[in-house]
Amino acid sequence: MHLGLIGFGNIARGIVDGLCGACAPEVERLTLLISEGQTAAIDAAFPEAARRQFADISIVERCDALLAAGPDLIVECAGQNAVRDSVPAVLRAGVDVIVVSIGALADPVLYEELRAAATDGGARLILPAGAVGGIDILKALQIGGDVTVRYRGTKPPAAWAGTPAAAQCDLAALSAPTTVFSGDARAAATQFPKNANVAATLALAGAGFTATSVELVADPSAPGNLHEFTIESELATVSVQIANRPSSGNAKTSQTTIYSVLRAIEHQAGIIVI
Ligand SMILES: NC(=O)c1ccc[n+]([C@@H]2O[C@H](COP(=O)([O-])OP(=O)(O)OC[C@H]3O[C@@H](n4cnc5c(N)ncnc54)[C@H](O)[C@@H]3O)[C@@H](O)[C@H]2O)c1
Repeated sequence: MHLGLIGFGNIARGIVDGLCGACAPEVERLTLLISEGQTAAIDAAFPEAARRQFADISIVERCDALLAAGPDLIVECAGQNAVRDSVPAVLRAGVDVIVVSIGALADPVLYEELRAAATDGGARLILPAGAVGGIDILKALQIGGDVTVRYRGTKPPAAWAGTPAAAQCDLAALSAPTTVFSGDARAAATQFPKNANVAATLALAGAGFTATSVELVADPSAPGNLHEFTIESELATVSVQIANRPSSGNAKTSQTTIYSVLRAIEHQAGIIVI
């Protein structure tokens, strides 16, 4: 497979490391789309083990160059702006995209633009479970009828730096769990674009953005990034609790997100998939 990656930050580096592992999906070629002016620095810092792993590695700074390279599949792991700037063109060109910055889909205009681009290009927009689990049963129950979903995301105070939470309280001085947001998934994904991807994922798989209740908590004693949600439906009652370790490169990002993307890549390439 020839894989394209949009962004080369924490998640993309983890994906490249993961692709060098024994159980990884088979990727022979890699093309990276990175921010302008970064090629020399990223090329110099590219891990040696990965250089040996892939038959060809290209770095480009424009979306048209990424498409010209002809990747079979592209993973967006750059941020909500990159979803806006690059993903519609990729879909229109007929290339499937795994979008990691899922919170971007809380914007109904962008959501419709992506749907239209995928339809025009005959491509698929693939939304991985990311940092959370249980999306399989949530989507199944949603197909079966109405679902009520309540989500609480808890992270250590440092993970809320640079978000509206920092204006509400002195994050460094917190001594008890403090709710920094309470509302629906659309507001959560809009106000906390780097911390509410899970809320958006649950909304997209389940009851939608306005009907999904979200509470975001800063907790100085949180053991990691905690994702808890309940689903009520006529078919089942479900409780999920996941304690993720934050990734070493970005405290806002759970380490498991990287492996969820590797699973999504495997789903595209595999013959028997689970
Ligand atoms: N779905 C989930 O559950 C989930 C979980 C964690 C993170 N995320 C999201 O994944 C995304 C990436 O997370 P990360 O931890 O790797 O972040 P990061 O900041 O470590 O890396 C992002 C990289 O993308 C680059 N970039 C930004 N805009 C770009 C553009 N237009 N084109 C090319 N490169 C660009 C940045 O320079 C940076 O190197 C974020 O949007 C984050 O919110 C989703």
